[in-house]
Amino acid sequence: MELSSKPLPLQTSKTGCAIVAVFADKTFSDDYKRLDSTSQDAINRLIKAGDFTFKAGQMAWISTPAKATYQRLLLVCLGASASELSLKDYTHSLQAIARTLATRPVGNAILYLNGIDALSSHTLGFWAAEVFSKQAYRYTTTKKPKDGVHALKSLQLSLPKAQNKAANQGLAEGEAVGHGINLARQLGNLPGNICTPTYLAQEAARLAKTDKRFGLTVLDEKAMSKLGMGSLLSVARGSAEPPRLIVLEYKGKTSKQPHVLVGKGVTFDTGGISLKPGAGMDEMKFDMCGAASVLGTLAALAQMQAAVHVVGIIAAVENMPGSRATKPGDVVSSLSGQTIEILNTDAEGRLILCDALTYAERYKPKTVVDIATLTGACVVALGHYASGLFANNQALANALLNAGEAAQDRAWQMPLWDDYQKGLESNFADMANIGGREGGSITAACFLSRFTKAYHWAHLDIAGTAWHSGGAKGATGRPVGLLVNYLLNA
Ligand code: BES
Ligand code: MN
Ligand code: ZN
Repeated sequence: MELSSKPLPLQTSKTGCAIVAVFADKTFSDDYKRLDSTSQDAINRLIKAGDFTFKAGQMAWISTPAKATYQRLLLVCLGASASELSLKDYTHSLQAIARTLATRPVGNAILYLNGIDALSSHTLGFWAAEVFSKQAYRYTTTKKPKDGVHALKSLQLSLPKAQNKAANQGLAEGEAVGHGINLARQLGNLPGNICTPTYLAQEAARLAKTDKRFGLTVLDEKAMSKLGMGSLLSVARGSAEPPRLIVLEYKGKTSKQPHVLVGKGVTFDTGGISLKPGAGMDEMKFDMCGAASVLGTLAALAQMQAAVHVVGIIAAVENMPGSRATKPGDVVSSLSGQTIEILNTDAEGRLILCDALTYAERYKPKTVVDIATLTGACVVALGHYASGLFANNQALANALLNAGEAAQDRAWQMPLWDDYQKGLESNFADMANIGGREGGSITAACFLSRFTKAYHWAHLDIAGTAWHSGGAKGATGRPVGLLVNYLLNA
């Protein structure tokens, strides 16, 4: 989709659809005032009839006069007022507009935003692009697209001259983030028989080829074994799919200390010998959404040519109950040298992450953030709105919380107190891989904290936010928005 912002006069611009705003305080935008009297009359009749009640996000198709240069006219209530439009109302309205436009063969649309000064031009552009890019994504790899869903060819914003530079910058950034989110969604949505550890490595290689600032290293089983990643490899043992450690570096600037992202890439989680129940197990294809968010974030940063230095590390394995699979009670030796008694093979995420986190030390990172669909307990604690945030450094935690707020991709901080470490004691190893049932997302984070003492670290548990279940089943692309915002400001 083409996105741009320029001064476009409502009376003369040719477009498939002109989108004109009114506000909840029953005021009309500057652009509404430029509509010809036929259109204004049609709108007033609709209001009089009680069909349009000025609710944020409300829309109506308005009949157009024969001489109009716009083929269609869409009236939308954007939010409170031109001077007090909230970001939430603006983005919700954009979502509604994008969904409505997809029901007709509109082709090109112009969104008239003159005189709206509640939000910066950059913000107006950024969210228009992010929302419309996300709306344009369809999963079509193993299913034909639905009939009657139309793709928009271009969206133009109409703004006064002085605002267009910032708006176009915002549009470009929002489109890049939308692209990164859609990449993460696509990888998440792919079934486990397509998206294997090998596939994720190929996907990283494809991404690496798109920009010369990328560098890629992929470790196979032999290389990981040589390094001593006994914990990660113990998860892969039950599967015929070979594991991969994928290291994708984006050097948008030269710095000695990169920020490191570590993604959980369990391409399918059966639970292993501690087998999961059958109902809903298909959703464990989404257990690589942390890994997908790392690739999506790097794709977004590269597309916007961001001046940042980021290393993405992805631990990619399939967790299966094969004859050589790890058994409850087995003890393995991690890359850190610490031994782990595996009491439950379904607590596999932490087993692969701990070795990837130790591996991250070699980059002398400024910060390390891991992203993982780690625990069902996090879904119980926080539901589907907030990702769980754990950190050994409060400044880093605050930066991530703020990024989540700004990106409308929120996280909520959970405790990482020593009190919770006790649950991980083992009679046969330095630690067990599970604590009790209670506070399960916290004991999981405590386990990881034993491998992250060398640097400032945060852990995002995205078990509740990475995908939707039920009728809208599909990956969300979270927390790409949060991560990009964090890295751009780090
Ligand atoms: N991938 C799951 C976590 C998960 C479960 C995410 C359901 C989203 C929905 C993880 O590998 C897992 O199985 N965790 C166990 C840990 C337990 C055995 C300590 C869990 O949450 O039940
Ligand atoms: Mn599991
Ligand atoms: Zn898992």
